Amino acid sequence: MFTFRQYLLLGGFFLGAISCSSSSDNSLGETEKSDVLEARPHFVEQAGLASGASTAQEKPGSVPAAPTAPVAVAPSSGKKFAPKVPGISVSQVSVPDKVVALTFDDGPHASLTPRLLDILKKYDAKATFFMLGTNARLYPNVVRRVAAEGHEIGSHSNTHPLLSKCGQGKLVSELDAAESAIVAACGKRPSVMRPPYGGMTAKQRQFVNQKYNYHIVLWDVDPLDWKRPGPAVVAQRLIKGARPGSILLSHDIHAGTIDAMETAIGTLKAQGYRFVTVSELIAEATAAANAAQSAPAPAEAPVLTAAVTG
Ligand code: NI
Repeated sequence: MFTFRQYLLLGGFFLGAISCSSSSDNSLGETEKSDVLEARPHFVEQAGLASGASTAQEKPGSVPAAPTAPVAVAPSSGKKFAPKVPGISVSQVSVPDKVVALTFDDGPHASLTPRLLDILKKYDAKATFFMLGTNARLYPNVVRRVAAEGHEIGSHSNTHPLLSKCGQGKLVSELDAAESAIVAACGKRPSVMRPPYGGMTAKQRQFVNQKYNYHIVLWDVDPLDWKRPGPAVVAQRLIKGARPGSILLSHDIHAGTIDAMETAIGTLKAQGYRFVTVSELIAEATAAANAAQSAPAPAEAPVLTAAVTG
């Protein structure tokens, strides 16, 4: 077994392996490449070193909830519903209803994404696909089908670098290239993006939001499907993790993930969950927060007046 010191050294090795520069190893197919890359970041994220998910609570654009903001109880989980307008970065939202966003990264994939689309259609579920520009360019027909069936397409950069290690020029070229590939395929520009590995500095998030008007979308439920624990485990992790307002992370480049979806979606649907796109989820949370803020003060108790007669 490794000693603690050896683990630290290993961690340093993996960290060093992730950099801004995208892989120049063209011997790997796109799917394999993103596969390999995807396997590293989570190691970093678990070590708390990536700047994305761990700082997801920072929401520069959010409107702070008034101390007297009404608090309702979500009927599904018993968890308190605290109305809050989502900020620039979103990892989950506050909604009163049983509604979640399924999200799929690193695709599209030539055969797995279409198989997933069939399942989503069967359960009347909408999802969000954070696509790589390189894969959108390879499979424009799949991109078109995703959009035509009412799902949302977000940017996941062009080549999957760790953006927090990138300079401004590389950040812009990655996002421009991803957006142009998506627009070329389906004619619609994204309004959401997810940084690879969840890694993006607070400054970059502000900049990207201003320049591209994207919401930066992270997640609150991660089944670690990239480790291929088997469909049953992936499904159970998604089912157990889901709360009203959750953003569920998965990857539509792994067969086991697609195999998990019938159970995951079917079970959550039977529990009363609806599945909407990330932008729809953000809109629902915004509407709920605004409604709570503008709710009229409770009417004064009616004054009972009794006619005094005679
Ligand atoms: Ni990814």
